[in-house]
Amino acid sequence: MDPNKRPDDMERIATPEQAQAFIDEQVAAIQDQVGDKKVLLALSGGVDSSVVAALLIKAIGKQLICVHVNHGLMRAGESEQVVDVFQNQLDANLVYVDAVDRFLGLLEGVAEPEAKRKIIGAEFIRVFEEEARKVGDEVSFLAQGTIYPDIIESDGVKAHHNVGGLPDDLQFELCEPVKLLYKDEVRVVGKELGLPDEMVYRQPFPGPGLGVRCLGAITRDRLEALREADAILREEFDNAGLTQSVWQFFTVVPDFRATGVRDGKRAFDWPVIIRAVNTVDAMTAEVPEIDWAVLKKITDRILAEVPGVCRVCYDLTPKPIGTIEWE
Ligand code: XMP
Repeated sequence: MDPNKRPDDMERIATPEQAQAFIDEQVAAIQDQVGDKKVLLALSGGVDSSVVAALLIKAIGKQLICVHVNHGLMRAGESEQVVDVFQNQLDANLVYVDAVDRFLGLLEGVAEPEAKRKIIGAEFIRVFEEEARKVGDEVSFLAQGTIYPDIIESDGVKAHHNVGGLPDDLQFELCEPVKLLYKDEVRVVGKELGLPDEMVYRQPFPGPGLGVRCLGAITRDRLEALREADAILREEFDNAGLTQSVWQFFTVVPDFRATGVRDGKRAFDWPVIIRAVNTVDAMTAEVPEIDWAVLKKITDRILAEVPGVCRVCYDLTPKPIGTIEWE
Protein backbone atom coordinates (compact mmCIF):
# COMPACT_ATOMS: atom_id res chain seq x y z
CA MET A 1 0.00 0.00 0.00
CA ASP A 2 1.33 3.45 -0.97
CA PRO A 3 1.47 5.48 2.30
CA ASN A 4 1.01 8.66 0.25
CA LYS A 5 -2.20 7.53 -1.37
CA ARG A 6 -5.55 8.04 0.28
CA PRO A 7 -7.35 4.67 0.35
CA ASP A 8 -10.45 4.66 -1.87
CA ASP A 9 -12.65 3.58 1.02
CA MET A 10 -11.39 6.23 3.49
CA GLU A 11 -14.45 8.17 4.61
CA ARG A 12 -14.48 11.94 4.62
CA ILE A 13 -14.11 13.35 8.15
CA ALA A 14 -17.04 15.69 8.70
CA THR A 15 -18.44 15.06 12.18
CA PRO A 16 -16.93 15.45 15.67
CA GLU A 17 -17.23 11.65 16.12
CA GLN A 18 -15.25 10.98 12.95
CA ALA A 19 -12.67 13.56 14.00
CA GLN A 20 -12.37 11.93 17.42
CA ALA A 21 -11.86 8.51 15.84
CA PHE A 22 -9.13 9.96 13.61
CA ILE A 23 -7.47 11.65 16.60
CA ASP A 24 -7.49 8.41 18.65
CA GLU A 25 -6.04 6.47 15.75
CA GLN A 26 -3.31 9.06 15.04
CA VAL A 27 -2.37 9.50 18.71
CA ALA A 28 -1.72 5.75 18.92
CA ALA A 29 0.17 5.75 15.60
CA ILE A 30 2.35 8.72 16.65
CA GLN A 31 3.16 7.13 20.03
CA ASP A 32 4.07 3.97 18.19
CA GLN A 33 6.26 5.75 15.65
CA VAL A 34 8.01 8.14 18.03
CA GLY A 35 8.43 6.12 21.22
CA ASP A 36 10.40 8.21 23.70
CA LYS A 37 12.25 10.25 21.04
CA LYS A 38 11.84 13.96 20.37
CA VAL A 39 10.03 15.62 17.47
CA LEU A 40 10.64 19.05 15.96
CA LEU A 41 7.92 21.12 14.28
CA ALA A 42 7.94 24.51 12.53
CA LEU A 43 4.78 26.10 13.88
CA SER A 44 3.66 29.02 11.74
CA GLY A 45 0.22 29.38 13.32
CA GLY A 46 -1.50 28.34 10.09
CA VAL A 47 -4.23 25.69 10.21
CA ASP A 48 -2.13 22.71 9.16
CA SER A 49 0.90 23.17 11.40
CA SER A 50 -1.35 24.13 14.33
CA VAL A 51 -3.45 20.98 13.99
CA VAL A 52 -0.34 18.81 13.71
CA ALA A 53 1.09 20.50 16.80
CA ALA A 54 -2.09 19.92 18.80
CA LEU A 55 -2.21 16.26 17.71
CA LEU A 56 1.41 15.71 18.70
CA ILE A 57 0.97 17.48 22.03
CA LYS A 58 -1.90 15.12 22.77
CA ALA A 59 0.20 12.12 21.76
CA ILE A 60 3.64 12.92 23.17
CA GLY A 61 3.34 16.14 25.19
CA LYS A 62 6.70 17.79 25.79
CA GLN A 63 8.59 15.40 23.53
CA LEU A 64 7.37 17.78 20.81
CA ILE A 65 9.49 20.89 20.33
CA CYS A 66 7.58 23.59 18.42
CA VAL A 67 9.62 26.34 16.80
CA HIS A 68 7.77 29.53 15.93
CA VAL A 69 9.81 31.90 13.78
CA ASN A 70 8.51 35.45 13.87
CA HIS A 71 9.87 36.89 10.63
CA GLY A 72 8.19 40.23 11.19
CA LEU A 73 5.79 39.57 8.32
CA MET A 74 2.94 38.14 10.38
CA ARG A 75 -0.42 39.86 10.67
CA ALA A 76 -1.25 41.81 13.83
CA GLY A 77 -1.57 39.53 16.85
CA GLU A 78 -0.64 36.28 15.12
CA SER A 79 2.65 35.49 16.83
CA GLU A 80 1.10 36.46 20.16
CA GLN A 81 -1.75 34.04 19.48
CA VAL A 82 0.66 31.18 18.77
CA VAL A 83 2.37 31.80 22.11
CA ASP A 84 -0.93 32.18 23.92
CA VAL A 85 -2.55 29.02 22.53
CA PHE A 86 0.44 26.70 22.51
CA GLN A 87 2.55 27.89 25.42
CA ASN A 88 -0.10 29.20 27.81
CA GLN A 89 -3.14 27.04 27.01
CA LEU A 90 -1.67 23.77 25.73
CA ASP A 91 1.52 23.95 27.79
CA ALA A 92 3.67 23.05 24.78
CA ASN A 93 7.42 23.03 24.56
CA LEU A 94 7.61 26.15 22.37
CA VAL A 95 10.72 27.93 21.13
CA TYR A 96 9.79 31.44 20.04
CA VAL A 97 12.38 32.97 17.75
CA ASP A 98 12.29 36.72 17.27
CA ALA A 99 13.93 36.99 13.85
CA VAL A 100 12.27 40.26 12.84
CA ASP A 101 15.49 42.26 12.50
CA ARG A 102 17.23 39.46 10.59
CA PHE A 103 14.50 39.19 7.96
CA LEU A 104 13.86 42.91 7.58
CA GLY A 105 17.61 43.57 7.43
CA LEU A 106 18.09 41.08 4.58
CA LEU A 107 15.06 42.43 2.73
CA GLU A 108 16.18 46.04 2.90
CA GLY A 109 16.26 47.56 -0.58
CA VAL A 110 15.11 44.34 -2.30
CA ALA A 111 12.22 45.25 -4.61
CA GLU A 112 11.93 42.29 -6.97
CA PRO A 113 9.08 39.98 -5.86
CA GLU A 114 10.80 36.67 -6.58
CA ALA A 115 14.02 37.84 -4.90
CA LYS A 116 11.99 38.80 -1.81
CA ARG A 117 10.33 35.37 -1.71
CA LYS A 118 13.65 33.62 -2.09
CA ILE A 119 15.25 35.59 0.73
CA ILE A 120 12.32 34.92 3.05
CA GLY A 121 12.22 31.19 2.19
CA ALA A 122 15.99 30.69 2.52
CA GLU A 123 16.26 32.66 5.74
CA PHE A 124 13.36 30.74 7.21
CA ILE A 125 15.21 27.49 6.60
CA ARG A 126 18.41 28.96 8.05
CA VAL A 127 16.71 30.11 11.27
CA PHE A 128 14.89 26.81 11.65
CA GLU A 129 18.11 24.89 10.99
CA GLU A 130 19.88 26.86 13.73
CA GLU A 131 17.15 25.94 16.18
CA ALA A 132 17.28 22.31 15.04
CA ARG A 133 21.02 22.24 15.73
CA LYS A 134 20.51 23.71 19.20
CA VAL A 135 18.24 20.86 20.17
CA GLY A 136 20.70 18.66 18.33
CA ASP A 137 21.09 14.93 18.68
CA GLU A 138 18.08 14.45 20.86
CA VAL A 139 15.67 15.01 17.99
CA SER A 140 14.89 12.19 15.59
CA PHE A 141 11.69 13.32 13.91
CA LEU A 142 10.52 16.29 11.92
CA ALA A 143 6.75 16.84 11.96
CA GLN A 144 5.13 18.64 9.05
CA GLY A 145 1.67 19.92 8.29
CA THR A 146 1.62 18.35 4.85
CA ILE A 147 -1.97 17.81 3.68
CA TYR A 148 -3.32 15.71 0.80
CA PRO A 149 -3.52 18.54 -1.78
CA ASP A 150 0.20 19.23 -1.13
CA ILE A 151 0.91 15.66 -2.21
CA ILE A 152 -1.37 15.53 -5.23
CA GLU A 153 -0.64 19.03 -6.55
CA SER A 154 3.05 18.99 -7.21
CA ASP A 155 3.14 22.77 -7.52
CA GLY A 156 1.03 23.46 -4.45
CA VAL A 157 1.24 26.98 -3.07
CA LYS A 158 2.92 25.62 0.04
CA ALA A 159 6.18 24.93 -1.77
CA HIS A 160 7.67 28.22 -0.64
CA HIS A 161 7.22 27.54 3.00
CA ASN A 162 7.66 23.86 3.67
CA VAL A 163 10.81 22.95 5.47
CA GLY A 164 12.04 20.72 2.69
CA GLY A 165 15.48 22.18 2.30
CA LEU A 166 17.29 21.21 5.48
CA PRO A 167 20.92 20.17 5.01
CA ASP A 168 21.86 16.49 4.72
CA ASP A 169 23.61 16.27 8.09
CA LEU A 170 20.34 17.06 9.80
CA GLN A 171 18.72 13.69 9.41
CA PHE A 172 15.14 13.41 10.51
CA GLU A 173 12.45 10.89 9.96
CA LEU A 174 9.21 12.57 8.88
CA CYS A 175 6.02 12.56 10.93
CA GLU A 176 3.08 13.80 8.83
CA PRO A 177 -0.13 12.78 10.60
CA VAL A 178 -2.58 14.78 8.42
CA LYS A 179 -1.03 14.04 5.04
CA LEU A 180 -4.06 12.10 3.77
CA LEU A 181 -6.58 14.76 4.82
CA TYR A 182 -8.21 17.53 2.85
CA LYS A 183 -8.33 21.03 4.28
CA ASP A 184 -11.95 20.81 5.47
CA GLU A 185 -11.11 17.60 7.35
CA VAL A 186 -8.06 19.19 8.97
CA ARG A 187 -10.38 21.95 10.21
CA VAL A 188 -12.87 19.48 11.72
CA VAL A 189 -9.98 17.71 13.47
CA GLY A 190 -8.58 21.05 14.73
CA LYS A 191 -11.96 22.04 16.14
CA GLU A 192 -12.25 18.67 17.92
CA LEU A 193 -8.76 19.20 19.37
CA GLY A 194 -10.03 22.42 20.92
CA LEU A 195 -8.10 24.94 18.83
CA PRO A 196 -9.70 28.42 18.67
CA ASP A 197 -11.93 29.19 15.65
CA GLU A 198 -9.63 32.01 14.55
CA MET A 199 -6.91 29.46 14.03
CA VAL A 200 -9.07 26.64 12.64
CA TYR A 201 -10.85 28.83 10.09
CA ARG A 202 -7.88 30.99 9.27
CA GLN A 203 -7.66 32.25 5.71
CA PRO A 204 -4.84 31.08 3.49
CA PHE A 205 -1.83 33.24 4.27
CA PRO A 206 1.27 33.11 2.06
CA GLY A 207 4.42 31.72 3.63
CA PRO A 208 6.22 35.01 2.88
CA GLY A 209 3.36 36.68 4.77
CA LEU A 210 2.92 40.43 4.57
CA GLY A 211 6.16 40.48 2.56
CA VAL A 212 4.16 39.94 -0.65
CA ARG A 213 1.62 42.62 0.33
CA CYS A 214 4.11 45.36 1.19
CA LEU A 215 4.97 45.92 -2.46
CA GLY A 216 8.49 46.62 -3.68
CA ALA A 217 11.30 47.14 -1.18
CA ILE A 218 9.83 46.65 2.30
CA THR A 219 10.20 49.51 4.75
CA ARG A 220 9.21 49.34 8.38
CA ASP A 221 6.82 52.28 8.17
CA ARG A 222 4.89 50.85 5.21
CA LEU A 223 4.89 47.39 6.75
CA GLU A 224 3.40 48.81 9.94
CA ALA A 225 0.78 50.77 7.95
CA LEU A 226 -0.08 47.56 6.10
CA ARG A 227 -0.44 45.59 9.34
CA GLU A 228 -2.61 48.22 10.99
CA ALA A 229 -4.85 48.64 7.92
CA ASP A 230 -5.19 44.84 7.68
CA ALA A 231 -6.24 44.65 11.34
CA ILE A 232 -8.92 47.32 10.75
CA LEU A 233 -10.18 45.48 7.67
CA ARG A 234 -10.43 42.21 9.60
CA GLU A 235 -12.20 43.86 12.51
CA GLU A 236 -14.78 45.59 10.31
CA PHE A 237 -15.40 42.50 8.13
CA ASP A 238 -15.97 40.62 11.36
CA ASN A 239 -18.38 43.29 12.65
CA ALA A 240 -20.28 43.11 9.36
CA GLY A 241 -20.53 39.31 9.51
CA LEU A 242 -18.35 38.88 6.41
CA THR A 243 -15.54 36.80 7.91
CA GLN A 244 -17.25 33.50 7.13
CA SER A 245 -18.76 34.47 3.79
CA VAL A 246 -15.74 36.06 2.07
CA TRP A 247 -13.00 33.55 1.24
CA GLN A 248 -9.95 35.77 1.59
CA PHE A 249 -9.44 39.46 2.29
CA PHE A 250 -6.44 41.59 3.07
CA THR A 251 -4.76 44.91 2.43
CA VAL A 252 -1.86 45.82 0.18
CA VAL A 253 0.42 48.86 0.39
CA PRO A 254 2.17 49.84 -2.86
CA ASP A 255 5.55 51.54 -3.02
CA PHE A 256 4.36 54.82 -4.50
CA ARG A 257 2.69 57.77 -2.87
CA ALA A 258 -0.48 59.70 -3.64
CA THR A 259 -1.38 63.30 -2.96
CA GLY A 260 -3.86 64.25 -0.28
CA VAL A 261 -4.89 67.11 1.95
CA ARG A 262 -4.63 66.72 5.71
CA ASP A 263 -5.28 69.48 8.26
CA GLY A 264 -5.33 72.06 5.46
CA LYS A 265 -1.88 71.03 4.27
CA ARG A 266 -0.76 69.02 1.28
CA ALA A 267 0.03 65.41 2.15
CA PHE A 268 2.00 62.94 0.05
CA ASP A 269 1.37 59.53 1.59
CA TRP A 270 0.80 55.84 0.83
CA PRO A 271 -2.38 54.36 -0.60
CA VAL A 272 -3.92 51.23 0.95
CA ILE A 273 -5.59 48.77 -1.43
CA ILE A 274 -8.31 46.47 -0.12
CA ARG A 275 -8.44 43.04 -1.75
CA ALA A 276 -11.34 40.63 -1.15
CA VAL A 277 -12.11 37.51 -3.17
CA ASN A 278 -14.44 34.57 -3.29
CA THR A 279 -13.19 31.35 -4.84
CA VAL A 280 -13.45 27.60 -4.55
CA ASP A 281 -9.89 26.57 -5.33
CA ALA A 282 -7.96 29.87 -5.70
CA MET A 283 -7.47 29.15 -9.42
CA THR A 284 -10.20 31.60 -10.38
CA ALA A 285 -11.71 34.22 -8.10
CA GLU A 286 -14.51 36.78 -8.02
CA VAL A 287 -14.69 40.06 -6.18
CA PRO A 288 -17.65 40.17 -3.78
CA GLU A 289 -20.00 43.16 -3.73
CA ILE A 290 -19.26 44.54 -0.30
CA ASP A 291 -21.84 46.81 1.23
CA TRP A 292 -20.94 50.45 0.56
CA ALA A 293 -21.36 51.45 4.22
CA VAL A 294 -18.85 48.77 5.26
CA LEU A 295 -16.28 49.93 2.70
CA LYS A 296 -16.83 53.54 3.75
CA LYS A 297 -16.35 52.73 7.43
CA ILE A 298 -13.12 50.84 6.71
CA THR A 299 -11.88 53.72 4.57
CA ASP A 300 -12.68 56.31 7.23
CA ARG A 301 -10.98 54.26 9.94
CA ILE A 302 -7.83 53.58 7.93
CA LEU A 303 -7.50 57.28 7.02
CA ALA A 304 -8.05 58.35 10.62
CA GLU A 305 -6.02 55.68 12.40
CA VAL A 306 -3.12 54.62 10.20
CA PRO A 307 -0.24 57.08 10.01
CA GLY A 308 1.23 57.73 6.57
CA VAL A 309 -1.86 56.71 4.59
CA CYS A 310 -3.94 59.23 2.60
CA ARG A 311 -5.95 57.10 0.19
CA VAL A 312 -7.91 53.84 0.19
CA CYS A 313 -8.88 51.82 -2.91
CA TYR A 314 -10.99 48.67 -3.42
CA ASP A 315 -9.57 46.29 -6.02
CA LEU A 316 -12.32 45.13 -8.43
CA THR A 317 -10.12 42.80 -10.49
CA PRO A 318 -11.23 39.17 -10.88
CA LYS A 319 -8.77 36.28 -11.29
CA PRO A 320 -7.95 35.93 -14.10
CA ILE A 321 -6.60 38.44 -15.08
CA GLY A 322 -5.40 39.62 -11.68
CA THR A 323 -3.92 37.08 -9.29
CA ILE A 324 -5.29 37.15 -5.74
CA GLU A 325 -2.07 38.52 -4.27
CA TRP A 326 -0.43 41.55 -5.85
CA GLU A 327 3.07 40.07 -5.95
P1 XMP B 1 -2.46 33.97 -6.32
O1 XMP B 1 -1.87 35.27 -5.91
O2 XMP B 1 -1.48 33.11 -7.08
O3 XMP B 1 -2.77 33.19 -4.97
O4 XMP B 1 -3.75 34.12 -7.08
C1 XMP B 1 -3.53 32.02 -4.87
C2 XMP B 1 -3.61 31.66 -3.39
O5 XMP B 1 -2.33 31.26 -2.91
C3 XMP B 1 -1.90 32.10 -1.86
N1 XMP B 1 -0.46 32.38 -2.07
C4 XMP B 1 0.54 31.79 -1.40
N2 XMP B 1 0.56 30.88 -0.40
N3 XMP B 1 2.91 30.93 -0.37
C5 XMP B 1 1.74 30.44 0.09
O6 XMP B 1 1.77 29.61 1.00
C6 XMP B 1 2.99 31.86 -1.36
O7 XMP B 1 4.05 32.29 -1.76
C7 XMP B 1 1.74 32.30 -1.90
N4 XMP B 1 1.42 33.18 -2.90
C8 XMP B 1 0.06 33.20 -2.97
C9 XMP B 1 -2.74 33.36 -1.98
O8 XMP B 1 -2.85 34.04 -0.74
C10 XMP B 1 -4.03 32.81 -2.49
O9 XMP B 1 -4.83 32.29 -1.46
